[in-house]
Amino acid sequence: MARKRFIAGNWKLNLSLAEGTALVQGLAKACAADPRSAAAEFAVFPTALAVKTIADAAKGSAIGVGAQNLHWEEKGAFTGEISASFIKDTGATYVLIGHSERRQYFGETDQTVNKRLKAALGVGLVPILCVGETLPERDAGRLQDVLRTQLTGATAGLTAQQLATLVIAYEPVWAIGTGRTATTAQAQEAHAFIRSVVRQAYGALADGIRIQYGGSVKADNAKELLGQPDVDGALVGGASLKLADFAAICAAAYA
Ligand code: 13P
Repeated sequence: MARKRFIAGNWKLNLSLAEGTALVQGLAKACAADPRSAAAEFAVFPTALAVKTIADAAKGSAIGVGAQNLHWEEKGAFTGEISASFIKDTGATYVLIGHSERRQYFGETDQTVNKRLKAALGVGLVPILCVGETLPERDAGRLQDVLRTQLTGATAGLTAQQLATLVIAYEPVWAIGTGRTATTAQAQEAHAFIRSVVRQAYGALADGIRIQYGGSVKADNAKELLGQPDVDGALVGGASLKLADFAAICAAAYA
């Protein structure tokens, strides 16, 4: 099944409003200049306070915008949180869920990931569900165990229709921000396994699910990673903060 490649830039806690605006406008221009870019999908994930500004700047372009997290409650006494409908209201269409930094530093669990996923899907946002193992987990031979647990916990109770909109990002924790990218064989192995777990629960639907690779993706390794049969895109951190680098990674998805 043909899957449209999807390149996403997770800006994390970086880029001012002005910097983000300039970057997204530059990226939109680069895509508009090359009709081949229509073959792929692109999005950026600014800090929560910049989502609306960047969504406005990207309006009418090929670049989608998303938030990096959300809270599952719709509204109420939840100081400091933002809800799915607030994100939707800004013009954003995507949201990252369960990024390893949220799991590591902010107590995210598979159960809270599940609640956030349901909230995102409930308002029609496209969630990117992040999964991945730590180095000790990989070294202990627990890669498949960890991925299976994260996937089944996150997707518990999702209907087939809900699952069909989901994007999954495989981000081995040891490859994030370390410059140590997974080899193409490691990436392909994990992606094929993720797809097999989805297939066990949802059947042929798994063939349409896009699985991005994340972890030290750069302009010089993107093409090779994207060449793997089960790698359908990239979730890029550091290299999404500079227009030239990110535009080159985006171009690797279609040129
Ligand atoms: P880096 O590309 O900086 O390794 O970050 C990956 C990531 O965490 C994207 O969500």
